[in-house]
This record gives sequence, structure tokens and C-alpha cells, in this order.
Amino acid sequence: MQNPWIVVKFGGTSVKDRACWDNIATIINNHIAAGKHPLVVCSAPSQVSDKLEQLIEAAVQKNYSDLLQEINEIYRNLAQTLSVHSELLVKDFSCLQQLCEGISLLGEASPRVWAKIMSFGELLLTRLGYEFLCKQNIDINWQNARELLVSKDVFGSNQADYLTAICSDQYDAELDSKLRNLTTNAIITQGFIARNQHGETVLLGRGGSDTSAAYFSVKLNASACEIWTDVAGLYTANPYVIPEARLLKKLDYAEAQEIASAGANVLHPNSIPLLQVNNIPLHVKLTQQPGKEGTLITAEGDNNILPIKSIIIQYHVLLISIDTISMWKQAGFLADVFGVFKQHGLSVDLISTSESNVTVSLDHLILSDNNRALDALLAELNGISNAKPIGPCASISLIGHNIRSVLPHTSYLFEVFAAQKIHLLSLASNDLNLTFVVDEDQAERLAKKLHVMLIEQNPNALFIGKSWFEEYCDVKKLEIPWWQQQPEALLQIASEQSPVYVYYEAVINAAAERLQACDQIGQIFYAMKANPNPDILRSLFQLGLGFECVSLQEVKYLLELLPDLQPQYILFTPNFAPKDEYKVALDLGVNVIVDNIYPLKFWPELFANRNILIRIDPGYGEGHHKYVCTGGTESKFGIPLNDLPIVADIATENNMHIIGLHAHSGSGILQADAWQQLALTLTSCLEYFPEVKIINLGGGLGVVEKPGQQPLSLISVNDSLKHVKIAYPKLQIWLEPGRYLVASAGVLLARVTQVKHKGDVNFVGIETGMNSLIRPALYGSYHEIVNLSKLDAPKTMLANIVGPICETGDVLGYSRLLPVTEEGDVLLIATTGAYGHCMSSSYNMRQPAIEYFLNTE
Ligand code: LLP
Repeated sequence: MQNPWIVVKFGGTSVKDRACWDNIATIINNHIAAGKHPLVVCSAPSQVSDKLEQLIEAAVQKNYSDLLQEINEIYRNLAQTLSVHSELLVKDFSCLQQLCEGISLLGEASPRVWAKIMSFGELLLTRLGYEFLCKQNIDINWQNARELLVSKDVFGSNQADYLTAICSDQYDAELDSKLRNLTTNAIITQGFIARNQHGETVLLGRGGSDTSAAYFSVKLNASACEIWTDVAGLYTANPYVIPEARLLKKLDYAEAQEIASAGANVLHPNSIPLLQVNNIPLHVKLTQQPGKEGTLITAEGDNNILPIKSIIIQYHVLLISIDTISMWKQAGFLADVFGVFKQHGLSVDLISTSESNVTVSLDHLILSDNNRALDALLAELNGISNAKPIGPCASISLIGHNIRSVLPHTSYLFEVFAAQKIHLLSLASNDLNLTFVVDEDQAERLAKKLHVMLIEQNPNALFIGKSWFEEYCDVKKLEIPWWQQQPEALLQIASEQSPVYVYYEAVINAAAERLQACDQIGQIFYAMKANPNPDILRSLFQLGLGFECVSLQEVKYLLELLPDLQPQYILFTPNFAPKDEYKVALDLGVNVIVDNIYPLKFWPELFANRNILIRIDPGYGEGHHKYVCTGGTESKFGIPLNDLPIVADIATENNMHIIGLHAHSGSGILQADAWQQLALTLTSCLEYFPEVKIINLGGGLGVVEKPGQQPLSLISVNDSLKHVKIAYPKLQIWLEPGRYLVASAGVLLARVTQVKHKGDVNFVGIETGMNSLIRPALYGSYHEIVNLSKLDAPKTMLANIVGPICETGDVLGYSRLLPVTEEGDVLLIATTGAYGHCMSSSYNMRQPAIEYFLNTE
């Protein structure tokens, strides 16, 4: 028979108010109703442990009463919201006061007293919690954890370890029967504390309540251990930093341990091995919403779904780099170096060695406030060899099974780091963790990019769990797409001719209006390369947009199509164009943007006495794929920052008027601060160009392409630019978006030709493929695909959607869920209004899809 014990632990944010305790009561009742016997383990409310530590320090300074009062008030307020008597607290607080007084008199706090004081955080809380739960008619018993958990003596030491004690990890029949004999339905006790062999209070280390829960689970051989917290489980990244992070519904112990150790801050790493050895399932759940499924950690996990499961940033990393040239092949050198770290009580985390250098990482917090400790460490290391600190750094850890076997397929991920320095790279010997140490200020940006590449772009990510954003953020933003609201009209269009791209005018206009509402932006130029469909161009012209052109053909096409268009509303932004194109454009009176020194240096006569803009390479690229990142040394675009003094000289010598600076870092960007960053780069170049009155921040504004992504907030973009305008009120800001205006407005409709089953793989073939839409083959882009003929039918089949082109890469979507799909059904490929038809070809002599403009009327 399965043991009825279930250990349920509530962390600091899960015990802080009445709403939490109502949920705790529900959770306990649910377990009791399911025939379980819950042992409830509680942490101190958020911040109380920190305040107790401060209290001890204040007592040493003989100045503790205010803090004691503050802590008292936290519990009194809680008692009030729980409608229980605060007299319950009086005895403990007077004891706490006496301990503080003792510390004041002595002027110091021994570890023994320290542990005693810290234990009050949990003790006080469980007194209130117990009373509250009794009032909810729960049959529950209060137990002092120090009567239940006994720490082991530290091997080889006479000193008791009061602050980081360890208990035995064996089933404890005596404890089991003692608690069973209590006969109540549930028991409540404290986390974090235990007693030692001498009956004194000891602590299990900071964050030790998870460890307590694990010990209790093992000692009682519980059926499961539940950790209730303020996030719904373990995610592919910290959801507060990367809202696209997805819930990991299942993990095995080793992965969970690695994620916890890398700094995920949801689970204490010490708790997992205890449960692993005893094969007790560990469930991480959200207290605020007990019905949500959370993360289940067992021996099985869910290995095959994603090679990289999680990307974790850990800040405050300090590297110590030790040169070893003179020590080459000297026995015992490393032992000497590590001896120094040991002596200074510092634990080394990552290590990388070469024949001439050893670099190690330390927790920066230990040293950051303590220059003397760092100096002492360096002085001693310098006695052995040359040592220098590198920091502040952050580590980015990629966690997954068999990282070694995954690496050959992910070599492209190193491109993310492009211009950034990787100070240290470490592949863990357990093959579960690859860690990069980078400059601290770059970590978030790089982690976001890695998350896009390794998780968001993996089609399997859709099967692991919802993204944080989908689950908890404003669902209004996830509106039903326009095409779902008018399937009949679209099927009618497809029945007349297919394959066909359909563009819906209302969606284009709405995007334009959103952009025009950004009051910091002086002029918007539509990057017509995204979609030069004449109806779209007319529509945007009527709304007052200008146009960005990349070739003379585009300029001429526009001028013919829109005879009323004034040349100053056209930007000509060529790249490696022949000389005469510049001449023609300048003579037409359009704004010319020069993106290389070459034309200025070798054809100065073209630009003399003319107003021009220059395109600057900001030194880094962004975007959904490396082919669309347009900054950094690898990219062919823009004038490098270093060359600007030369440009300034050429301009002065030839009387060229540089009236604008331009930068476009890439395409498909969803981070709102990207344009502010560009603006700051451009404004830092103003010193060279006194005539500048425009900064053009390019395009690149991304759109949501797949579920779980967070839409770009134009309001945030606008707000971030406000700061630039305040600092430079005379500058006009221009933008030249393409995708943002048209991508979501377009769909590609194509009929199913044949269906094939090959081994485990299903293929659904349609009448057009990469000849109409090359983005999936070229960039691995994701486009949502649905069976428009059977929009409401249950999706039961997983298939690769392929075209008729003679290339294995002619795949429009891998592993897509569809209803049972047959010849003649119309498939809809979404978000194809940008870079779809205009990048098509007649490869294999197959004509690409035609276009259809769906008017708003
Ligand atoms: N400005 C300049 C100078 C550009 O090079 C581009 C795009 C844009 C504006 C417009 O970028 P947008 O707002 O559309 O991201 N074929 C790729 C995109 C290539 C973008 C080329 N330049 C794709 O399908 O994703």
C-alpha cells in the first residue's frame, strides 16, 4: 500500500497573507479528501529571515528595538488578516527580546544564538498558521520541527555546525509511527530548523526549508513532496526576464538539480538528491493557483522533447584569471592555487585551464563588498603567479541532457556572442550543463537571443508547456487573428485561384495607425522591400507614410505608381550599388543614405554641396536570424564607428552636408529598447557631424509569429525614445519599418495535393512550397499553419507540411498539429504578408502564388 504521507512545503511568498493561507487551506483539504496525510512545512514570510539577520547585527550594535518592533508588526498584521489572536506571539517575542538583549550586552552573537534567533521566523509563522487552519475546521496538529529532525555530528569536527547542519537521509520508522500516532488528518511544522544531538537549535542553511521538506519526505517515505511557491514551476528561463519562457512540465532529477544549481532560485539544490535517492516525486506548484499543473520531477523526466531545456543567468560572478606560464609542467601548481582559495574560505564554481592560464569563477557577492578580502586573496595568489580579477560577470548556463551530442547541431549558437567576449566556457563533466561567462551587462540580451534560437524556434517547444506570457500576461494582446474570423471569405478566394497570398487592408491600416500614434517619431517610411504590392503601397501612401527603397527600381516604381508622392518622402538606402544609381537618386531629389566610405572618397563630386544621410554600423546586429542581422564586422552594412572621423574629414573637404545619421541593426526584433539603444549610439556620433538634424533608427520591428511570443510594445518603444528626445529636442527621429506594417496582414492559401506516411513521419503536400515562401527554408522561420477547410475539427495528426519543389528543404512547417487532412483541403500559412511573395521565385518553373488584396469595405 502506498504511504499516505505527502509533504507540502510553502515558501516565504506563499505564507505572507490571507489569500495565501486560504489557498493553503484548500490545498490541505484537497489532499485530505484524496486520502493523503499532509505534513505541512512552512518557511518564514518573505524578508523575515533577512530582517532577523539584520536584527542580530543591530543587537550587536545595541540598537535593535526598532527592527524588533518592525518584525513584530509583520506578524501582528498577519495575525489580524488571518483573524487569529496576536497574543499567540507574545511569549516568542519576549524570548526574542531577551536573546537580543544578551547579544547587546556581550557585543557579539555566537552561531548558537544566531541559529536560535533565526528559528523564530518559522516558529512564529506556524503558530499563526496552525490557529488559522484549525479555524477552517482542519483537523491538524502543530509540531516543533526540533522535536522531529535531528542533525548529524559533523565528521571529524568537534564543533557543532549551527548554521548549515545536515540530517540523516534514511527512512525513520520511529518518526513515522510518532506522527501516525497523533491521529490528526494533517500536521504543521517549520522548515529550516532542526536540533542537534545536544538538543540545541540548528539551521539547515539559507533556503533550507526545501531541504527540510526533502528530509521529512525521506524520513516518512512520503508518496510525494510538493514545493508550493510563487512561480508555476521550473521554466525554460526566468519568466520575469524572458516572458516567452515555457513551463517545463516534466523533468528528471538530474536536470532539475542542474537548473536549481545554475541559479534558477525556485528550488534549493540540496533538496533534490535526497528525493532522487529515494525515488520520491517532487512537484513544484503555484500557491496562488493550486489547479495549475506545475513541474513534476521524477526519475523519468521528458528527455526527448528539447535538447536544451533551460537557460539560466547567474549574476555577480567574479573571475580570477591566473597566468601560469612560468609554472608550465610544474607538479602541484594547481594544488597550491586551490589551497589559497580554501584558506580564504572561497568555493570555486567553474574552472577552465590551459597550459598558460587557469581561470576560476567565484560568487562575486562574497567579495564585492569586501575589497580587503579580494585584495588579500589576490596578494596571496600573486605570490604564486600573476592573478587578476575579471568582473562583474554573469554566467549563462544551457541545461539539457547529453549536451555533448547536442553541440555539433548547435554550433550556430556561438554566433549569438558575435562581438561579445566569452571570458570562460565550461562544459560540465556530467554532460548536463554548458556555461558561458560574459560581461554582466550583456547577459540578459545574450540569454534572450539564445532562448529564441534554442527554445522558441524549436517546434517541439510548443509541446512542453505554455509560455509564461500566454498563461499570465494580458490575453487581450493574443487576439484572435483576422483570418480566423473570416474563413468563408478566404475559402471563396482560394476556390477561384490558388495558391494565393491574401492581404487584408484593415490589418495594415491598424498597424500604420499604431505607428503613427507614436509621438516621438517624426516620420515613418515603409520599407517597401517587405511587400511592394501596389495596393499596399497606395494604402500606406494615403495614410501619409513615406517609403524606404533599396534599389533605383523601387524608387522609380513608386514614382510611377504614386505620381503625387514628393521625393522628400522617399529614402534611398542602397548597399554596394553602382555609382550612377546614386547620381540618379540625388537628381530625383530623394533622401540618399550612404553606407560606405567608398562612394564618399572616390566619387566625392556626386555628393559635394548635397544633403545626405550616412548609415552607421552600431557594432552589433540583432534579429530573428543571422542573415538578417545587419551590424557588426561580419555584416556588409554600414560605416564602422571607428571610421567616422575620416567621413567627417571627407565631408568637410568636399562640402558635403551630412544632415542625418542612420542605423538598422536587423529585422524581426521584439525587444522594445532596441531602438533607444540605436539612438544612443547615433547621438554619441553627433560630435563629428554638426549639421545632423535627423536620426533614422531603421526598421526591424518584429511581429508575433508563433504562440507564446510577446508582442513588441510600441508604447514602450515610444516611451524609450522620449528620453532621447528630451536630451536632443532638435533631432527628428525617423523609422523605416517593413514587416511590422504588413506581416500579420498576409496569409498564403494552398491546396493539399497528396498525403504520405513514411515510418513515423506524416507528410502533407501542398501545391506550392519554397517557390512561394522561402522563409522557412532560408531562415528556419516559423509560420503558423492551419487547415482552413477544417478549422474547427480536432487536431489529431502531426505532420510536416511540404511543397512540390525538388529540394529536401522544401518544408513549410515541421511537426505541425492538423486535423485529419485530405487532398483538396485548403491550408493557410499565417503571417506571410512580409517577405513572402516578394522573395518568391519560379524555381522548377513552378509559378509562385498570386496575390489578392482584400479591401476593408
Ligand atoms: N531598413 C533597412 C535599411 C533594412 O535593411 C530593412 C530590411 C528595413 C528597414 C525593414 O526591416 P523590417 O522592419 O521589415 O524588419 N527577408 C528577411 C528580412 C530582411 C530585411 C532586410 N532589410 C525576412 O524574411 O525576415
